[in-house]
Amino acid sequence: MFSSLALSAAPLLLAGLHAVTVGAVPTISAVGSKFFYENGTQYYIKGIAYQLTPDDPLIDTAQCKRDIVRMSELGANAIRVYHVDASADHKGCMEAFANAGIYLFVDLDTFTTQIEQDSPHWNETQYNRFGAVLDEFQQYDNTAGVFVGNEVLTTANGSIAAPYVLAAARDMKAYRDKKGYREIPVGYSAADIADLRPMLQNYMACQEKAADRLDFYSLNAYEWCGESSYSVSGYSELQKNATGYPIPIFFSETGCNTPAPRTFDDQAAILGSEMDDTWSGAIIYEWIEETNDYGLISYGPSATGAAATKSNVEDGYTRAGTPIPISPDFSNLKSQWATLNPTGVALSEYKASASSLSSIECPASTSGGWAVNPSANLPTMGQTYTSGAADSTGTGSSGSSSGTGTSSSASASSTKDNAGSAIVVAGNPVTERLFVASLALSGALGLVAFWL
Ligand SMILES: *[C@@H]1O[C@H](CO)[C@@H](O)[C@H](O)[C@H]1NC(C)=O
Ligand SMILES: *[C@@H]1O[C@H](CO)[C@@H](O)[C@H](O)[C@H]1NC(C)=O
Ligand SMILES: *[C@@H]1O[C@H](CO)[C@@H](O)[C@H](O)[C@H]1NC(C)=O
Ligand SMILES: *[C@@H]1O[C@H](CO)[C@@H](O)[C@H](O)[C@H]1NC(C)=O
Repeated sequence: MFSSLALSAAPLLLAGLHAVTVGAVPTISAVGSKFFYENGTQYYIKGIAYQLTPDDPLIDTAQCKRDIVRMSELGANAIRVYHVDASADHKGCMEAFANAGIYLFVDLDTFTTQIEQDSPHWNETQYNRFGAVLDEFQQYDNTAGVFVGNEVLTTANGSIAAPYVLAAARDMKAYRDKKGYREIPVGYSAADIADLRPMLQNYMACQEKAADRLDFYSLNAYEWCGESSYSVSGYSELQKNATGYPIPIFFSETGCNTPAPRTFDDQAAILGSEMDDTWSGAIIYEWIEETNDYGLISYGPSATGAAATKSNVEDGYTRAGTPIPISPDFSNLKSQWATLNPTGVALSEYKASASSLSSIECPASTSGGWAVNPSANLPTMGQTYTSGAADSTGTGSSGSSSGTGTSSSASASSTKDNAGSAIVVAGNPVTERLFVASLALSGALGLVAFWL
């Protein structure tokens, strides 16, 4: 069933892959500021955020296979999954994705273990749960990377949480190495908060020892909306500040949906000559259509009345079945990606320059701004942030750095619990405030109810 459908959808791709035995997919590694396949070809992400319900989407093999047919048609080579159950069996889905050349970026935190922006801490419970997810997914060659957090920092005064995110990365890298796992890249997925740029990005990659740095940094950015351009969208500024960045960087969410329909023009900038020497691609938010209206596919019309109580329906949306492309968004993305095939640089050529990449400076602590002392040690496991404490990683001003009362505080209410990933920080501060405020409002009304 799957093969015949898939063959009609993507004959060339699958014809090639049929010769490859299961599990033989090449692994991905981070070298310098880029990702590479084992054969030395650079890997650029064309990814899709894949979370059908709050629960693990990688345990229903039949559903994965139905979705893979359409993902392959799009030209995707990666998915991002936010929540998994480490104790479940993922073999069927992971092998099906591997056979389609699709890699996984997975968040290590579970619903109760994410690092929090307010009173951040990093403790053994979190370590064990993060470790269990890594234990499970390290066995699959198509696990391309893991995140220690998604949008932990969401406000201008959230910088005190950054050392806790980095401590988690440090410890998960050490855990990975102690267990003898391959060097699966460990990274972080940041909300695009103008007040934290470029400090957060630089902080995550500036530590003296590689063991204390992220292996990659990624950004959830919704700056490019409708008919825009490289310079108008703000991407040229993102590019400027990422030039010379010493670890891989990519968009872990993108795809602004106002105005509709989405044309995904930004893909041509990211995967084209403007940005492809610096950025490693993008993950489009998101696969399934639901209330927030970011879907590339749906599993049928939204369900009301008696239909809404069926077992695979949540919040009025069917969460399983045969994916039906959302028109014209699905084909718009397909057309964009079809023309974008950056080749980058061969690892053999790149190796020398990778080893001479210069390090970047840790951002200085500023009063009322970035409140992390650049020379403080990272938190140890079990440490909890206490404002103003002598052992805190912040500076003396950390306890008193309050929100500005503008975009930064507005965005606090629009994250995680409601609007989730749809944090938008446009280049234009006025648009930004309006957009974030409207997100917060719709979040409050439950219109963007969401689990992230
Ligand atoms: C390396 O492997 C990737 C993924 O299988 C493939 O797309 C690429 O063409 C290969 N490169 C070479 C030089 O064979
Ligand atoms: C870690 O913190 C959580 C609260 O976020 C708490 O429930 C848990 O007991 C803590 N674990 C340890 C080992 O202190
Ligand atoms: C780029 O960095 C400068 C400071 O070096 C900062 O003022 C600016 O906001 C940053 N822009 C972006 C888009 O990150
Ligand atoms: C940041 O500001 C918000 C709103 O003013 C406040 O609730 C929060 O506690 C502040 N966080 C820190 C770490 O100061």
